[in-house]
Amino acid sequence: MNKQKRALVCGAGGFIGGHLVRRLKSEGYFVRGVDIKDHEFFPVTADEFIRADLRNPVIFDEITRDMQFDELYQLAADMGGAGYVFSGEHDAEVMHNSGTINLNAAEAARKNKVKKLFYSSSACIYPASIQTDPDNPGLRETDAYPAGPDSDYGWEKLFSERLYFAYMRNYGLEVHIARFHNIFGPYGTWEGGREKAPAAMCRKVAETPDGGEIEIWGDGLQTRTFLYIDECLEGVRRLMNSDFSGPVNIGSDELISINDLAGMAMKIAGKTQSIRHIPGPLGVRGRSSENSFIQEKLGWRPTARLLDGMTPTYRWIAEQVAARNGK
Ligand code: NAD
Ligand code: GDD
Repeated sequence: MNKQKRALVCGAGGFIGGHLVRRLKSEGYFVRGVDIKDHEFFPVTADEFIRADLRNPVIFDEITRDMQFDELYQLAADMGGAGYVFSGEHDAEVMHNSGTINLNAAEAARKNKVKKLFYSSSACIYPASIQTDPDNPGLRETDAYPAGPDSDYGWEKLFSERLYFAYMRNYGLEVHIARFHNIFGPYGTWEGGREKAPAAMCRKVAETPDGGEIEIWGDGLQTRTFLYIDECLEGVRRLMNSDFSGPVNIGSDELISINDLAGMAMKIAGKTQSIRHIPGPLGVRGRSSENSFIQEKLGWRPTARLLDGMTPTYRWIAEQVAARNGK
């Protein structure tokens, strides 16, 4: 009989981490989840859930020392959507908190002989200078250098990519790195300031009556691609099961403007609303994922349609809005 594989999920109380724990459990893993907070929307389904601050190197050492992990998924980060990472108000916290967690993760994984480590980097590492056109042709992995991310969140991710690869070269740590492009789905942050555009659009449409008006930051012509959580996890698992280290994009190539994203949420809701454009943190003008490299290396690329992911996401957020409003 095969030995049960052991996985450590750091950031298990978060959106992607919470879903990843479920996925690993469904594949038969023993899972230890760690987070500084509980999951907001469901009990974490890990075999063990430890509430701990991963900025503490002693704690990181302890949680990786008592058993040998086959896989460590490093998702813990100080993170949010444009309203959080591009406001400029959290730059020092983001760099300090996420940087410290990653320094601790690399060292604990080396010291305690974790067999392989996954790191969640971001599309935010790509240079701002090649994301000025809303009709973005797709960011290729090789576009990362010469570097010039538009946020300190992106610089920290780039630093940590380099950190893990240095541990791979110098200490033989097996590392796999993905650059996520705006992942969305149910059971993610939908209010409070850290929510990203898909959740924000769903919430605004759900909160506003038919015939009302919703607000969008900027002119709404800025574009993004959004990847549904299930395909994100499929990409992560395929990357971890491969001998390919990356970094590789895990993102959709279905480009949409934020105005049209709001329109999609309205269509799902069966509402007609007008849009008021207001000043707000914008980030880059246009961003898409170029997916030839993932196709070449993993023989797979995300293909699901945005509408298919937005439909369950809208329904879940509409339920949260109704519950919050006591309906
Ligand atoms: P999330 O905020 O829902 O999850 C991150 C988790 O890390 C949170 O539960 C948080 O409590 C935890 N955490 C933060 N500081 C901690 C600490 N000191 N100790 C222990 N836990 C701590 O975010 P997510 O959307 O699930 O993202 C997961 C990872 O993927 C992050 O590294 C993020 O930067 C990366 N990423 C996400 C996206 C996206 O669109 N969701 C895009 C690019 C990259
Ligand atoms: N969040 C949000 N809320 N965004 C809005 C809103 C709103 O009410 N109205 C318009 N937008 C616009 C933003 O101004 C931005 O131009 C665009 O929608 C996308 O915003 P987000 O989804 O919040 O973030 P992002 O795509 O710029 O960056 C996110 O994705 C990266 C990975 O692709 C962030 O979460 C990054 O941290 C992440 O790495």
